Amino acid sequence: MTSLVLTVRETLRYRGAIGQWSWVLHRLTGVGVVLFLALHVIDTSWAVFYPDLYVKAIAAYQSPLFTIGEFGLVFAVVYHAFNGIRIVIFDYKPALWRHQGQAAVAVLVLTLLVLAPVFLGMLSHVVDFYVTEAAIAGDKMLDVVVFSILEQLPFIAGFVGVLAAAIVLAALYSLIRGDAPARGNYPQASPIERFWWSFMRLSGILILPLVFGHLALMHVVQGVFDITAAQAVAGTMSSNGTIGAVPSAVEFVYHRWSYAAGGLFVWRVYDLFLLVLVTIHGFNGLRYVLTDYTSGNNFARRTAVALCTVMAAVLLAVGGASLLVPLEKDIVDEAMAATAEIYELRGEELPPELEAFLSNDE
Ligand code: HEM
Ligand code: HEM
Repeated sequence: MTSLVLTVRETLRYRGAIGQWSWVLHRLTGVGVVLFLALHVIDTSWAVFYPDLYVKAIAAYQSPLFTIGEFGLVFAVVYHAFNGIRIVIFDYKPALWRHQGQAAVAVLVLTLLVLAPVFLGMLSHVVDFYVTEAAIAGDKMLDVVVFSILEQLPFIAGFVGVLAAAIVLAALYSLIRGDAPARGNYPQASPIERFWWSFMRLSGILILPLVFGHLALMHVVQGVFDITAAQAVAGTMSSNGTIGAVPSAVEFVYHRWSYAAGGLFVWRVYDLFLLVLVTIHGFNGLRYVLTDYTSGNNFARRTAVALCTVMAAVLLAVGGASLLVPLEKDIVDEAMAATAEIYELRGEELPPELEAFLSNDE
């Protein structure tokens, strides 16, 4: 903790050149995206395991607060990706370090140039939503967010469980290894850390097209608001709302994960690669960050390493399970009751198809 305070203080005091700030920004954006990822993978798995919760989570994502967060997330991914590529190029061409300042500025400029049209595309989805859904008053939207978040609170127990598991693992490790500084105190020197160093660079390069493709689809082509709209589902031959009484976020995921081309579930395979690469890259990055700030205390450092390992393992297991289980159409029907609850919270009338579906279901 003291080293965290020290780093923050020194970063501000040092008023480093742009290279120092780009390091801070790379770190902040990496950690921000990894925290989002933890929520996102758990949420997405609900489409299969708890369809009603998925509907509510997406309803919360469609609120103004999350919309602002969405712009921040896209900035974070794009900046981190371009700066990551700069780091990779500089690592393999050390002579370029002389131009570090210009390169850091170039990364920032490139990020803003790419983001300008992307943000315009995203904004057009937001404006469309508020023009067509103008009936949703601000306080009703807040009701939806509060309601959706309350329903998800029990899952916080999972995070507490992960933290407890990390503390137990660190304690066991300390019992076995004792308190002597482990070799890991000088991570750069070990062959394992050299592997991780290369992995971070290679995975970064592979993630870039995957994550940019995913974001382009979810923000520009389709947009977070269109996930629940009656229209063609991006990257498939299906339309949302053809299975359920009305379109839903669960049906959107159902169509994407059921879409097969040449016998291959294209989006499941795509998401599996994304899941594995991004989770391992992100949580190994988080380990770098946390161990930097806990290097003075063996137990805290071991807890940090165990925390990153357990969190990554849980996400790979939960995300992997949701991608690998066979999908039943029932999940789309299960989403309908939750969709009706959202309509009611927004003070909107239920569409007749949904009303008919619910009364048949009783
Ligand atoms: C707010 C922005 C985002 C939205 C709206 C979004 C939306 C979605 C949706 C609808 C799915 C379901 C599967 C599909 O349709 O392909 C999904 C899956 C996934 N997304 Fe995103 N995504 C966003 C940002 C991100 C980012 C930034 C990352 C990476 C850091 C990411 C990583 C993943 C992964 C790994 C999966 C598979 C999850 C699983 O296996 O359960 N997403 N996303
Ligand atoms: C999109 C392409 C990406 C590229 C090219 C990239 C590249 C890099 C590179 C080169 C590093 C430095 C590694 C080192 O110091 O050894 C790094 C660190 C990191 N990355 Fe990424 N990355 C990408 C995506 C992501 C994503 C999606 C996440 C989150 C899930 C993430 C989270 C992190 C974290 C937390 C760090 C550690 C930062 C630090 O030590 O200050 N990265 N990345």
